[in-house]
Amino acid sequence: MRLFVGIPLAAEVVEELSAVSMRLHSSADGLRWSAQESWHITLQFLGNTPEYECIVARLKELRSPSVPVKLEGLGFFERAGVFFAGVNLTPELEALQQRVTAATGLCGFVPETRPYHPHITLARSKSRAVNALRELKSRIHREPRFSGFVAEEFVLYESVPGAKGSHYQIRERFPLAAVRS
Ligand code: 2AM
Repeated sequence: MRLFVGIPLAAEVVEELSAVSMRLHSSADGLRWSAQESWHITLQFLGNTPEYECIVARLKELRSPSVPVKLEGLGFFERAGVFFAGVNLTPELEALQQRVTAATGLCGFVPETRPYHPHITLARSKSRAVNALRELKSRIHREPRFSGFVAEEFVLYESVPGAKGSHYQIRERFPLAAVRS
């Protein structure tokens, strides 16, 4: 089972991102645009693993306050051929990401050594050709503004392969607690 842990987006943000994606999308642009149902912020990619029960048990034990989420503009991972909406790395988001990797560490998962760069992948270049991304970049004339939201849960996704690429199914939900003042 191919698994990853992430944060689903609020409906309002999905609508805003959808408008951005529709505005920038053009036919034969050499990009594979991700479906809005698949948009999420990855906390940790776990890959193909038989450790489902261990992961769920450890993530259930995790206690963390709800996380304010704010998108911060559009960007590119050029080498990977990815176009994304960036997410502000708040202390709360960083703490949750660290708690998730500590929890899955108890099931044998080793955290990535590269810095955590939260994002929502909107499109991938089909052939990893830089031209498609460059052309897309030239069509972005203004930075969109996005609503913030408070994530009250994080989830375990299964990545299910299909003819039109993978789609992501929520397998488990883990509530985040509101901080009492
Ligand atoms: P991406 O959107 O930047 O590709 C499911 O594939 C999710 O896990 C995606 O959000 C993907 O990030 C992320 N991910 C992180 N590392 C990955 C890897 N090695 N292979 C596939 N997906 C990975």
